[in-house]
Amino acid sequence: MSKQADFTGRDVYARTFDADEVSLASIAARLEARGRHRFFDQVINDYMDVLALSRNESILDLGCGTGVIARALAKRCDIKERITAIDISAHLVEMGARLASKEGVADKIDFLVGDAHSIVEPQGRFDVVIMHTLLSHVVDPATVLREAQRLLRPDGRVVVFDGDFESLTYATDAPDGGAGTDRLLGVSGHTQGRVMRMMPRQFNENGFRLEWSRAYVAADIGRADFWASSLPTFRTLLPKAGVMSEQEANEYVDKLERASANGQFFASCNFYTTIGRRLD
Ligand SMILES: C[S@@+](CC[C@H](N)C(=O)[O-])C[C@H]1O[C@@H](n2cnc3c(N)ncnc32)[C@H](O)[C@@H]1O
Repeated sequence: MSKQADFTGRDVYARTFDADEVSLASIAARLEARGRHRFFDQVINDYMDVLALSRNESILDLGCGTGVIARALAKRCDIKERITAIDISAHLVEMGARLASKEGVADKIDFLVGDAHSIVEPQGRFDVVIMHTLLSHVVDPATVLREAQRLLRPDGRVVVFDGDFESLTYATDAPDGGAGTDRLLGVSGHTQGRVMRMMPRQFNENGFRLEWSRAYVAADIGRADFWASSLPTFRTLLPKAGVMSEQEANEYVDKLERASANGQFFASCNFYTTIGRRLD
């Protein structure tokens, strides 16, 4: 059976279970910053509107990281049961629990450590499973979807929101316009860069009916905005992934930050949300 511990690639977000504290602090800072951005706020509002949760529904935030989604739901929704939030990184899970306490929602969330390929929870335990930028990092998306199918009650729903990271680009003044550095970002930051293009087929083959979808473009043109909080993480994470030296990463980020200061910045990626309903 697939499991994340078998991962041999460079994606730093797929290796959080054995990453060092400097990398994890950098990852956590980016997750928190993008979680506060109006783009993610809009995305969460959109899928929450479609879900129209009732008070009795039980929710699993799978691949929760620092708990951005679980904490947002705990604040927004009047849900009777505690939300379950699971991530493969014990460090990120602990950070999520601390932030939930600080924000006054600790009594509404259970934070647990687990691998999405094989979760220790009973069959049919949840009404809704949310994977907010998880699938692009896992070893085997089909196994994770089948696991979500097992965890859902009949008729339960899965929300998959993720980047189409093959479309991610940070333009540079290099002769190739940044194509080469985009490829390095691809291998160091994602494992399944095309996974959202496969979702209609993946739902179909793994026990779900596609019920709803929405497309987004996160594009910063002129100045860095949504992508601004990624830039400092590249200084740490690109060398950790082994795709650039520290000096190369610093020069790359210095250039991107200068481009933003001069109004010459361009970064963009497509994102999609898909909602599937469990078939029996
Ligand atoms: C990009 S982060 C998203 C975190 C959170 N959902 C958010 O949007 O802020 C991807 C998360 O997936 C987690 N992850 C990667 N592989 C996993 C797996 N097999 N099982 C559970 N979590 C996993 C990482 O530890 C990381 O926290």
